[in-house]
Amino acid sequence: MAARLHPAPAPNQEVVDLQRLSSRDLEPLLSEEIATWRAELEWDFEKSAELVRRFMDLRALNGSALVEDGAIKGYAYYVLEESKGLIGDLFVRRDVRTVERENALLASVLEPMMANPQIVRVESQLMMIEPALVRDTPQSEWLRRFERNFMRLDLRQAALQEGRVRQPIRLGKWSDSFQEPAAHLIAAAYAGHIDGQINDQYRTTAGARRFLYNIVQYPGCGAFYRPATYAAFDIASGRMCGVSLTSIVAADCGHITQICVIPQVRGKGVGHELLRQSLVALRDAGCRSASLTVTAANLEAVTLYERVGFETIRHFPAYVWEGF
Ligand SMILES: CC(C)(COP(=O)(O)OP(=O)(O)OC[C@H]1O[C@@H](n2cnc3c(N)ncnc32)[C@H](O)[C@@H]1OP(=O)(O)O)[C@@H](O)C(=O)NCCC(=O)NCCS
Repeated sequence: MAARLHPAPAPNQEVVDLQRLSSRDLEPLLSEEIATWRAELEWDFEKSAELVRRFMDLRALNGSALVEDGAIKGYAYYVLEESKGLIGDLFVRRDVRTVERENALLASVLEPMMANPQIVRVESQLMMIEPALVRDTPQSEWLRRFERNFMRLDLRQAALQEGRVRQPIRLGKWSDSFQEPAAHLIAAAYAGHIDGQINDQYRTTAGARRFLYNIVQYPGCGAFYRPATYAAFDIASGRMCGVSLTSIVAADCGHITQICVIPQVRGKGVGHELLRQSLVALRDAGCRSASLTVTAANLEAVTLYERVGFETIRHFPAYVWEGF
């Protein structure tokens, strides 16, 4: 792909490699980003910011900063995992946030990944960009866009009423021995599903293993929270048929990082019961609210969440690029 992606920067604008900067240079922007995550999504971004600082100071973070008149106005970074690139974050300071500036940063991280012969796929979920439903993007002819919803539930108001489970199941609190059956379950639950187009880890058991490993070890989606994480087992076969994974994203806020049920037992109240138990456990742990993200076109899931009382408070895009 020979096309130049960078829109011409304005005369006072410069796109600078993050490896030329230190975490101290980025600090005002990171402070604003931490405050923004807290105010808008009730998430504590501090642990993610700490990882950014650490990798910046090791000069090991791939990405760019947008510098104007000597001040950093935005940044974006990416990580490479085997043949896949992931845009980890893209944030522009509120007083200068424009689609043009965000696109300059998006282009600056897409370009090296798309030009890298090892990289055949790029994924991104950009929760902090301008939420305009229609916007230009660099290389729009190559990027697929999926609408995602950020949803939130006020646990102090939620009824969390029991439903009728029309399938003999037993629920178990998370144990590390669930990791392997859960990886098989995730791959089965997402076979042919739209979310497998957004995150290719859902497509195979090996990918689902990596997804689970990351979610348990790393703070990107909050700190994995075992006491509110449940698996459902089919009584007759003893096999795992659903999971609801949770994390803590701020001292008083929980998050549903994953919920899925195998196709054979869907529509029987298992998903609702898993979700309800996780939300009750989060509330018992002192959480005021719970959040989750969902693909807008995933109506089964959106209907379930709305029925429980979740409301969409933000729309954000997921972009995917696939090479040849
Ligand atoms: C979303 C999912 C977990 C729901 O699990 P489930 O066990 O089928 O859900 P339930 O049977 O508890 O359904 C709960 C409610 O959701 C709604 N619902 C379920 N399927 C629906 C459908 N096909 N159309 C419309 N609404 C539906 C109904 O309101 C239903 O209430 P009811 O029990 O009164 O009929 C399941 O469909 C799934 O695993 N999907 C694939 C993975 C996925 O999309 N996960 C969510 C990612 S954010």
